[in-house]
Amino acid sequence: MSALLLSRCHLWVLSRVSTLILLDGHPEAMAIIRPSADGEGEALAGLRRALDAETRFMLAEPGERGNELPDQSFRFVADEDGRLVGVIDVLALRWRRARGRGAVVLGVRASAQGQGVGRGLLDAVIAEARRRGMWRLELSVMRHNRVALRLYESCGFEAEGLRRASVCVDGEFFDEVYMGLVLDRAVPTQRG
Ligand SMILES: CC(C)(COP(=O)(O)OP(=O)(O)OC[C@H]1O[C@@H](n2cnc3c(N)ncnc32)[C@H](O)[C@@H]1OP(=O)(O)O)[C@@H](O)C(=O)NCCC(=O)NCCS
Repeated sequence: MSALLLSRCHLWVLSRVSTLILLDGHPEAMAIIRPSADGEGEALAGLRRALDAETRFMLAEPGERGNELPDQSFRFVADEDGRLVGVIDVLALRWRRARGRGAVVLGVRASAQGQGVGRGLLDAVIAEARRRGMWRLELSVMRHNRVALRLYESCGFEAEGLRRASVCVDGEFFDEVYMGLVLDRAVPTQRG
């Protein structure tokens, strides 16, 4: 094993992908940082369960893994005489701590734009999200997509941050504005 000494004896590079670290305050203890391997699913599940139990900073609550709540993602479409011209998805996680938050993805066919379809779809999912007791909707939109930005702002979404070089379209990088709409901060009582 060719070990390269680095960073005041705390770090050795064991191979191109693995490093060895001495644990601060524990002179005899070491950990190898390596890619996760196939076949250690059970050990990983145990690690995740232990993390869920000992910290409140992860998404899963103690004992929730394997008992996730039903998915409450949903979708609306715009139907013009049997032809679909627009779609909006609300994607939700199943963890109790985050299931009231939905990620919105919206698109309207060019032939149907500028006629109120996008606003209609957005209004519909905001109403449905409230009905389901969801507390937040969020989305990201390319910074130069002025039409979409204006639509989201007019529906109450607020810019919360910038995701720099977030997407690469035809070889060109673009920033995305991260937006959110808080619907309700009441703690949901519905557990199903
Ligand atoms: C962004 C998009 C969803 C808007 O849907 P739409 O059906 O065209 O929008 P609407 O007709 O409901 O108009 C909503 C608002 O958008 C703005 N808008 C719509 N068309 C516009 C245009 N051509 N120029 C400027 N603003 C425009 C207006 O502010 C309008 O508000 P108003 O109702 O007060 O006039 C649609 O253009 C689209 O799918 N574009 C391509 C994909 C995309 O950008 N998706 C969003 C990714 S985050």
